[in-house]
Amino acid sequence: MRKPLIVGNWKMNKTASEAAVLIRDLRERVPASPHADVVLAPPFTALESARNALGPSSWVSLGAQDIHWEDHGAFTGEVSAPMLRDIGCHYVIVGHSERRMYFGERDEHIQKKVRAALRHGLSPILCVGESLADREAGQTESVITSQLSGSLAGLTTQDLATVTIAYEPVWAIGTGRSATTEQAVIVHRSIRLFVETGWNSDIASAIRILYGGSVTPQNIESFLVSDAIDGALVGGACLNPDSFATIINLAQIPRA
Ligand code: PGA
Repeated sequence: MRKPLIVGNWKMNKTASEAAVLIRDLRERVPASPHADVVLAPPFTALESARNALGPSSWVSLGAQDIHWEDHGAFTGEVSAPMLRDIGCHYVIVGHSERRMYFGERDEHIQKKVRAALRHGLSPILCVGESLADREAGQTESVITSQLSGSLAGLTTQDLATVTIAYEPVWAIGTGRSATTEQAVIVHRSIRLFVETGWNSDIASAIRILYGGSVTPQNIESFLVSDAIDGALVGGACLNPDSFATIINLAQIPRA
């Protein structure tokens, strides 16, 4: 049985002081629970304040929104895996569609980022997803398969054990138009099959596959009812403590 994982991707929102307030508000609304894992991914500048606000024995983990593949060097503006580990991160989002769209990230970069994360004990949350044009052209599965093979090629089963995959249809991100449960389940099953074919059935049944794209307190349950969907990557709704707490609390209800 895979434990649900809820990830809040803050994107370019919240200063360090605002992060502390948001986390305080969230903690008041969410009791610690063994039934779901939670990751918060604030901007780099708010990681330290988020870590301090979470406290040392927190059941909520810290994640970053991106990473550079080198450990250090002349890469102005970039942040490396050792830096993220040192500040308290255990997860990192890699290959988000906004990085692909606005910053020219390609699968070859994403593969290097996944490897850098694994090298330093960070769990990558790899985002994949098709555009509306891909979907309308019947290319959803082939686009996702190509993103997965480009980003995960050469990883061992052991490597894959700490990877999470997030299926985020580009047309559903920030649009208020989420995928239907059926649409998400079809893609999640094909991702799991991809892992089974490329590695083995043990890792395919252990790996967590999240849905992302306009997840709200109103629709989260429709995704979590399916045993193909192991949680959510939440953007907009994670910036409001009431809505994110509701999403987390619904994910904490033990699944049948
Ligand atoms: P959204 O973003 O929930 O605002 O659609 C999701 C994401 O980009 O991870």
